[in-house]
Amino acid sequence: MMLLELDRVQAFYGRSQALFDVTFQMAKGEVVALMGRNGMGKTTTIRTICNLLPAQGGTIRFAGQDVRRLPPYRVARLGVGLVPEGRRCFANLTVEENLLATARAGRWTLAAVHTLFPCLAERRSQLARTLSGGEQQMLAIGRALMTNPRLLILDEATEGLAPVVRQDIWAAVRALKEEGQSILIVDKTLGELLPVADRCVVLEKGQTMWQGKPAALDPQTQERFLGV
Ligand SMILES: Nc1ncnc2c1ncn2[C@@H]1O[C@H](COP(=O)(O)OP(=O)(O)OP(=O)(O)O)[C@@H](O)[C@H]1O
Ligand SMILES: [Mg+2]
Repeated sequence: MMLLELDRVQAFYGRSQALFDVTFQMAKGEVVALMGRNGMGKTTTIRTICNLLPAQGGTIRFAGQDVRRLPPYRVARLGVGLVPEGRRCFANLTVEENLLATARAGRWTLAAVHTLFPCLAERRSQLARTLSGGEQQMLAIGRALMTNPRLLILDEATEGLAPVVRQDIWAAVRALKEEGQSILIVDKTLGELLPVADRCVVLEKGQTMWQGKPAALDPQTQERFLGV
């Protein structure tokens, strides 16, 4: 059984159609890079997987279950851990309260998250809003991990961060991949993204236009669909 299966997914914002035909699958343990230029539907695809935006057509199955029937909290409980674009944490909770808010038993405990991101241990009693952007991003990832997700979704997790902080996040992503965590990842830094990805799925105007291994992503395809 596939971990995640999207088949001809369509989605709208009001009457404006954002997704026309998004079709791809993910096996357990895979790291899949969801790619495409600005506004092509990456975040919208992620929102439909979590049912934050209901798909209007097609099917989305996670671990064999039809997520279109489930409210977002049930999708999360099934094992989808989302780190949304813009790293939203609970600003007026402490770092530790943020981590414990959605925690579920499993490999990821407070101690394990502290090992992955030591700064979160140092700042455990601080309010989330007093953290730097990079620390907030680590907190957002830590919080998603604390749900012990079967699938971790990272939407632009390194966006707008200083280079050294980006390196910390990429190191964490590589460590997660190493231990077999399934990850669906969107990121603009192809130089870091491609080496960590098992497979790429490229969106253009709300459609999956290309899928394959990173090594098969030739310069023409990159120029045509990614503008690089
Ligand atoms: N809240 C919204 N209301 C209306 N239209 C939206 C909304 N969010 C996104 N869209 C539109 O849906 C389309 C897909 O946007 P989406 O945010 O999914 O793209 P993206 O690939 O994540 O882009 P980016 O790389 O800029 O994050 C775009 O045309 C965008 O303008
Ligand atoms: Mg986006």
